[in-house]
Order: sequence, then structure tokens, then C-alpha cells
Amino acid sequence: MNVLLLGSGGREHAIAWRISQSPRLAKLWIAPGNAGTAALGENVSDVAPTDPEAVRALAERVRADLVVVSSDDPLAAGVVDAVTAAGIPAFGSTRAAAEIEWSKAFANDLMARAGIPTSSGRVFEDADEATEYVRQVDGPVVVKADGLALGKGVTVCDDATQAVAAIDAAMRDGAFGASGSRVVIEERMYGRETGGHAFSDGVTVRHMPFSCDHKRIFDGDRGPNTGGMGVYSPPAWLTPHHAEAIRTSISERAIQAMAEMGRPFAGVLYPGVMVTESGPRVFEINARFGDPEAQVLLPKLRTDLLEILDACAHQRLADVPVEWDDRATVGVVLASEGYPGPVQTGRLIEGIGDVDDDVQVFIAGAKRVDGRLLTSGGRVLCVVAQGETMEDAQAQAYDNVARIRFEGAQYRRDIGDTYARPLDFTR
Ligand code: GLY
Repeated sequence: MNVLLLGSGGREHAIAWRISQSPRLAKLWIAPGNAGTAALGENVSDVAPTDPEAVRALAERVRADLVVVSSDDPLAAGVVDAVTAAGIPAFGSTRAAAEIEWSKAFANDLMARAGIPTSSGRVFEDADEATEYVRQVDGPVVVKADGLALGKGVTVCDDATQAVAAIDAAMRDGAFGASGSRVVIEERMYGRETGGHAFSDGVTVRHMPFSCDHKRIFDGDRGPNTGGMGVYSPPAWLTPHHAEAIRTSISERAIQAMAEMGRPFAGVLYPGVMVTESGPRVFEINARFGDPEAQVLLPKLRTDLLEILDACAHQRLADVPVEWDDRATVGVVLASEGYPGPVQTGRLIEGIGDVDDDVQVFIAGAKRVDGRLLTSGGRVLCVVAQGETMEDAQAQAYDNVARIRFEGAQYRRDIGDTYARPLDFTR
């Protein structure tokens, strides 16, 4: 098969790595790709992945048998719709189905109708009304930009002062562009987060192992939110009872509700879930793999990824059993100085060649210039290790992180520390 993969992050490097291992693959193109994907296929740098017509033309030119769309903006732009309208199979959701991610208001509506447990929320299009509301509530809330905001549109607030500042940033100062012209204000939930990824072809659901991201920049979950600084899987603290509730009352119910609405969801569904004192409750639903969740989940996959993606695109996932390695897995992100704010780039990355053979390094914000690998973005790379125990996986991941060097590199030292920690519902 000829495959065209869209995107340029660490997630896409991990997807490309797995696709490249498939005996069914003839050739892989990645648009635009990055320094990691360049070693696995042919990068195409002059086609914007969010331009549906340009992607369709590229897919026709390279005679793609499958187009894989793995990030939020191309899904929201309708790339899957354009490609499939031209008769080319695509993995990923249509624009209508991806609304579950690109509009928090739509997702809340769907969850209310389907009886999916979530927090109560209200939608505001007027900044004065939103401000008035949080002053009345006068307690902890979450302020969310309604649209896509690179994972940075959510502000967790302790009180009305913080909530007013978050409303001002989104609605008056345009911090998230048009995505923040409408906000959703929700009650704040307490507990611990996990992600429940699943593949679907619109009907059949194949669940992946659970994973836990670390969204804050500093150890101990301090500092501003990022796109994700590291992931571990599986969480020992998640009870089988809660895991089953997430699979059935959240993921499967969402897929069924989308089908009943006439918007069948095919692709990766990734609900972000807070396990609270009253059980698991959704705080967001994504229409794609998380990043860096993909970098940690895909090394655990035993089944041919290309077979799964192709089955989802052809509504025959029921024919494909999906198997996972149950070893502990940890991924640690190395980010540039300044991240998640403006970053210093162009720094030389050394030591990747020194990592263990069984450790994966997935490249995100790095580019090759005259044969040298230089930083070029916020999250630069993710180091992933597996072990019989979480302690083994952590030890190997951090041992290898220490071999990679670039000026100003920052990373969290506590990825995986909560894997067996009892739940605390006070924070
Ligand atoms: N790591 C969180 C996300 O991809 O949404």
C-alpha cells in the first residue's frame, strides 16, 4: 500500500515508525513530516496538511491507497471529507464527527443527550455575561476556549479573580484567536486524569491501554499547562471497575451517540477523563491520538498498525483483533528553554545515537541542517522506554534522557511517579 500521513509532531513520528514496520507498506509519504519521519519515508514539505484540496491533489499524485489524518486542525478543516470524496480511503474522522473535539459546546451537548458523565457547564458568547457568571459562582471553575487552541485553551481556576483573567484573555485579548470568542465555563472536578484511547470504524470499538499525561511544565504538576510533558501506561491506580466504566459509559456510548446522530465517528477517540470521588467524568473528548500519548501507546501495539488503520477506513474493524503488550511504558518529553512560552531554537542536539537499542526517541520540534540536528520548536523529542515494572521503565527512560543534550533542555523528573499512588480527591 502507498500511504500518505499528515503532520509533523512526535505523534506522527511514532505513527510513521509503526506504519513503516508493516509488511503491507509499499511507500510512505509524510506531509510535511519532520527530521524523524525523514528516515522512514519521503517528507513532502510544500503541502499544508490543513488545505483539503492540496492534500487531495497530493494523495492523487502519490497514488495513495490510504491517507492518515492524525491531528486536530486537518480533521476540523475537512481533509478526510475531501479525500474520501475523491474516492481515496482515509483514516480519521469527518469534519462533522471531529466537532466532538473542535467545539466544546457540541461535545457537552452530545454528552448530555447520551448520558455520558461529565461536569456541568455553560456556554458564553458575551464576555460581560461570562464575567458576571463567574463572580456569582465565586468558586473554582474551568474556563475553556470553545475551539481548538493547541491544548492551551483550558484554564483551571481556583477563584473568580483567576476566572475573570481567563475570560479576559480568551474573549477580550484574543489569546486563542477565533477559538476563544466563545467560552465554556464548567464546574471544577477533583481527582486524577487518565486518557482512554480507542480505535473505531464508526461501529466497532477497539480500546487501547489507559495512559496518563503530565500537562503542567514543572514537577509536582506546577506551572502553566503544556501540550503534555510525558506519559505513562498503564496506571495501576485505575481500578478495573473504573476502567470498564470509561470503556462502556464513555467511549462506546460516545461512538454510539455519534452514529445515531448520523455522524459516525471513525478514527481515534480519546476522551480525557477525571476519576473523581463519584466515578470517571469526562473533561474533553479528542478526535485523535494524544501527543505524547501516541509515542507511549504505539510501542505497546502488537498488531500491524496499518492493518488497523485500513480496517477503520473500510468499516471492517470487527475483522481485526487488536493486541497490546502489557509491559509498563514511560515517555519523557524534552522541551526547549522557554516552553510553553516563546522558545529559543537552533540549539544543537547531541547524544541520540547513544540511546539503548530498545529505547525509542520520537522527534517533534527538531530539524536537520547540514547533517546536524537542531531544535526548532517547543517540545523537541520524547524518549520512550518499557519495563517489567514501572520503576524499570522509569529508570531506563531517565538513564537515556541523560544521554541526550541540548542547551536549555527542560524535562520533568517525575513522569510515572503517580502510577500506583492512591487517589486524592482534594486536588
Ligand atoms: N497530550 C494531550 C493531548 O494530546 O491532547
